[in-house]
Amino acid sequence: MTTPRPTGPVIRATPDLAEPLSALAAATFGAACPPGTTQANIDAFVAEHLSADAFRAWIADPAVAVLTAVDPAGLPVGYVVVLDGEPDAAHTEETALITLHPTCELSKCYVAAEQRGSGLARRLVAAALTRAARQGRRGMWLGTNGENARAQHFYRKMGFKELGPRHFRVGAVVHEDLVMERAIGDGAALGG
Ligand SMILES: CC(C)(COP(=O)(O)OP(=O)(O)OC[C@H]1O[C@@H](n2cnc3c(N)ncnc32)[C@H](O)[C@@H]1OP(=O)(O)O)[C@@H](O)C(=O)NCCC(=O)NCCS
Repeated sequence: MTTPRPTGPVIRATPDLAEPLSALAAATFGAACPPGTTQANIDAFVAEHLSADAFRAWIADPAVAVLTAVDPAGLPVGYVVVLDGEPDAAHTEETALITLHPTCELSKCYVAAEQRGSGLARRLVAAALTRAARQGRRGMWLGTNGENARAQHFYRKMGFKELGPRHFRVGAVVHEDLVMERAIGDGAALGG
């Protein structure tokens, strides 16, 4: 196993990080997909949803938090994207499952391969939970692929519980995801 590069504190991403965050997203998105997902479908998803323009828009949006940590060269080695507020009208399956309001979505959670097991993912999610608590959110939800056992184990460690399935398109294929949720506030430990 590669030794993880040392990383700085969790910070709010700045516009200059949009390009390297998109490159990190392109390098890590496939790890969240089930075996057999084609590179063409991964590439289509990355081009549509994880471009540098997409990161620039999230970074500029006060209702979105892009949290990251950088290596000594200033390059991001992990990131989370949190979307504030209730799921939009397109998310009917998630809306039917979520129990805690006001809520927010842990929309993306990725660390570079060499950072897996390093504690960076825990620091990123803990920072997201702390921010959500400060904003008065009562819950945080997420969707993760039904076959992504490592991510599910990680999210359970971070206090998330399973709610049920939803469907998620990656390129030309629709995958079954698991929706998970955890409480914020009322003394719930934030995992930091
Ligand atoms: C999901 C992710 C952010 C979690 O970060 P991480 O550093 O790997 O998380 P941790 O190592 O703290 O926790 C993972 C746990 O899963 C366990 N695990 C590893 N492989 C596993 C597997 N195949 N099945 C079940 N559990 C597994 C690990 O042992 C660890 O548990 P432990 O701490 O009890 O030993 C990171 O793995 C990642 O970026 N994965 C690729 C992208 C991805 O899937 N993102 C989630 C999208 S929803």
